[in-house]
Amino acid sequence: MLMLLVFGVLLYEVPLSGQDETPPETGEPLYNYAGIRLPEEHIPFFLHNNRHIATICKKDSQCPYKKHLENLKYCWGYEKFCKPEFRFGYPVCSYVDMGWTDTLESAEDIFWKQADFGYARERLEEMHVLCQPEETTDSSLVCSRYLQYCRASNLYLDLRNIKRNHDRFKEDFFQSGEIGGHCRLDVRTLMSEGQRKSPLQSWFAELQSYTQLNFRPIEDAKCDIVIEKPTYFMKLDAGVNMYHHFCDFINLYITQHVNNSFSTDVHIVMWDTDGKIRVTILARSTEYRKILNQNELVNALKTVSMFEVQIVDYKYKELGFLDQLRITHNTDIFIGMHGAGLTHLLFLPDWAAVFELYNCEDERCYLDLARLRGIHYITWRRQNKVFPQDKGHHPTLGEHPKFTNYSFDVEEFMYLVLQAADHVLQHPKWPFKKKRDEL
Ligand SMILES: *[C@@H]1O[C@H](CO)[C@@H](O)[C@H](O)[C@H]1NC(C)=O
Ligand SMILES: *[C@@H]1O[C@H](CO)[C@@H](O)[C@H](O)[C@H]1NC(C)=O
Repeated sequence: MLMLLVFGVLLYEVPLSGQDETPPETGEPLYNYAGIRLPEEHIPFFLHNNRHIATICKKDSQCPYKKHLENLKYCWGYEKFCKPEFRFGYPVCSYVDMGWTDTLESAEDIFWKQADFGYARERLEEMHVLCQPEETTDSSLVCSRYLQYCRASNLYLDLRNIKRNHDRFKEDFFQSGEIGGHCRLDVRTLMSEGQRKSPLQSWFAELQSYTQLNFRPIEDAKCDIVIEKPTYFMKLDAGVNMYHHFCDFINLYITQHVNNSFSTDVHIVMWDTDGKIRVTILARSTEYRKILNQNELVNALKTVSMFEVQIVDYKYKELGFLDQLRITHNTDIFIGMHGAGLTHLLFLPDWAAVFELYNCEDERCYLDLARLRGIHYITWRRQNKVFPQDKGHHPTLGEHPKFTNYSFDVEEFMYLVLQAADHVLQHPKWPFKKKRDEL
């Protein structure tokens, strides 16, 4: 799959034109103010940094921010023409910690640059063009030093041959030609930015293979998917809880400031090159063969970090057939009770395993289908570890194992799923196999 990201064109500051107030009008507002979605206190700063919107607001009788137009001098502190007396804040130090620095001023300055908006200021000052567009439809790549922050437009990504492994941030994820743009690339400067090449410090590992393309990704129809919504790529430090996740929010927040864009109508892509095993559980919404302790089983699966778990109910009225196929085909371990839905195993990838949780004494049905398809099949083995709700009620035949619900021993379940996972990991076609030299 090829993907393309358009981050939009650079916005230039439009000077506030001042006197041209036009008579009040009725009808539609001249700008979608509702789309700004910022806290009221943020608005003067926003208008300071978006003078073209301030200009529109001035002319527009419907602008809800009129009262802020007098405060356009307010600024965060990182802006080029931000006067110290109007900036949002500045650190005040009352004593100097010897050895760290020796004057109050420099202590304040260091704090400002390392832990305040001065940080954004430094990144902005470092920005330089690495790939220069020559026409308006060209791509571009602009980064701060060591590629700690980058902005790309018309970015071309070729994800057809990606090689994942069990690194969260695989360093040679892109090969030459798999990431790039139609623009004039300054290879020497790009290559000289590698000093901070390390997962959470820079984008050098990903961008070192950025290639100057001799085609135009969009115009030459080289992409299967074109993503036009502004997109943030983030490498998460740790999303396990709010405390550890904090650094990630701070990074995103600084990025919003550096890019001067606070829209919430964006994509945020969590960059992770780890090849997880995708486990899909097919739930049933019928009266029989329900997994009574499904939540318990799912929670157990979720404790294995290698697994990415989802539960689906393939009802075509709620989930179209194409979407069902898409899910099945992006599954490595497919788990379900005996039932027609397991026919989906035909559409699993070659390395997948299907786990017929319980075959209800109909042993050959999906075993044969899996064999014909050429994928691995497992099913429940120990009779003393599966618990039917009752003996089952066939409408005419009386007791019947297909006509009741079941719960399963969690330990035994995990044992079987881990065996299926082993099969997937060992399969020669499993795409995220570690290379031999990495073992
Ligand atoms: C970054 O800023 C540019 C220029 O204003 C804008 O077009 C783009 O949407 C912004 N990117 C994100 C991810 O918000
Ligand atoms: C199985 O579960 C379903 C849904 O909870 C319920 O309607 C049905 O009566 C149960 N079957 C048996 C045999 O208990």
